Amino acid sequence: MCPFDELVHGTARRFDGDGYRVAVVRIADDVYAIGDRCSHADVSLSEGLVDEGDCTVECIKHGSTFDLRTGKPQSLPATRPVPVFEVRVRDGLVVMEVA
Ligand code: FES
Repeated sequence: MCPFDELVHGTARRFDGDGYRVAVVRIADDVYAIGDRCSHADVSLSEGLVDEGDCTVECIKHGSTFDLRTGKPQSLPATRPVPVFEVRVRDGLVVMEVA
């Protein structure tokens, strides 16, 4: 996807691929990848605020927060999870598994 060093700690970055749209978040040395589209409406989660302590990202539209590890919403109005993807750092590059 990109070199790990290009990801800024505590922020989300959007990646568009063939049939998917992903928000990749770096928190310290960890990387998370979740579906970029909020499950409440078509809003990009990568524009949201990352909470490093709670490991969540907040949707900018109505404020639902999503757990970066599970994709589950932690607050309303979103009630459905967003997908999560396997992501790892290999040889300094962020690599995502897409099923
Ligand atoms: S669009 Fe994301 S919470 Fe409403």
